[in-house]
Amino acid sequence: MTAPGNSVLTTAGPQADRIAALWDVFFAVCVVVATLVIAATAVATWRAHRRADDSEPAGQERRIHAVIAAATGATAITLVILLVSSLRTGHALASLDHTDPVEITVTGHQWWWQLDYEDVDDPSRRFTTANELHVPVGRSVHLRLRSADVIHSFWTPSLHGKKDLIPGRDNHTWFRVDRAGTFRGQCAEFCGPEHAKMELRVIADAPADYAAWADRQREPARSPTTARRMRGRELFATGPCAMCHAIAGTPAGAGLGPDLTHLASRDTLGAGAMPNTHDDLAAWISDPQDHKPGVRMPAQPMPADDLAALLDYLESLR
Ligand code: CUA
Repeated sequence: MTAPGNSVLTTAGPQADRIAALWDVFFAVCVVVATLVIAATAVATWRAHRRADDSEPAGQERRIHAVIAAATGATAITLVILLVSSLRTGHALASLDHTDPVEITVTGHQWWWQLDYEDVDDPSRRFTTANELHVPVGRSVHLRLRSADVIHSFWTPSLHGKKDLIPGRDNHTWFRVDRAGTFRGQCAEFCGPEHAKMELRVIADAPADYAAWADRQREPARSPTTARRMRGRELFATGPCAMCHAIAGTPAGAGLGPDLTHLASRDTLGAGAMPNTHDDLAAWISDPQDHKPGVRMPAQPMPADDLAALLDYLESLR
């Protein structure tokens, strides 16, 4: 599992470009200010050292007043420069083109992300996934941000600034990704003990790849083709799994935990807590608390045969 990039300085879209440009202005101004302050301090120290007696030279008071007035004026001008560039960035972000966006509702949960891909023209084309946000390169994405419990914050540094997910209200954000790749996002508002393990990956695909991915996600779960997988599905649908999770096309339809219809198509488990491999999935099901302490999912001890059948079924859900 290679860690995807998440630097505000490695930008991948117009929103992040604007924010990085603002950072450049702040950085340049702060470097100049810090250099001047350090130089002035050094000069003052050196001169105080040289003057052995503490007599006041003539006209000293007037000079001090002039220096203070000049420094106050320079501070005010600096603040105005920072304020104006900040406002200009905000204005530029608000006026970026948002036509024909991909519409996705993002719901924050303790501690994972529910992703509902909307389709206003044809609601039968809606689908739900979790924790890995696929988007097409070059097209605007509109996120409607909600929370099911406490305040979370959506932050993908390479793509845009932060936006909170607040219970009882909808927030909105738009971004566009201009190159294919995987970009790491992270919940940026403390939301409980597993706040740190609340990763959201944004995977930008070429438009044709995105369309193919979305078509696969719209399909119900694959039907089991072997006796063992059928046993796995039965264990899932009649056991505790179905009390929290959904698998489209089966009786399991709960929404407390992530939708698992295409679990095997994801790279990670537990909102980025671990890679989605056979051994990790087995470890996760057997004792999630060991990998993400405090996670809402309880341990599911079961006979080895049953676990093998369940894993075989879940791994077939591509
Ligand atoms: Cu969700 Cu921090």
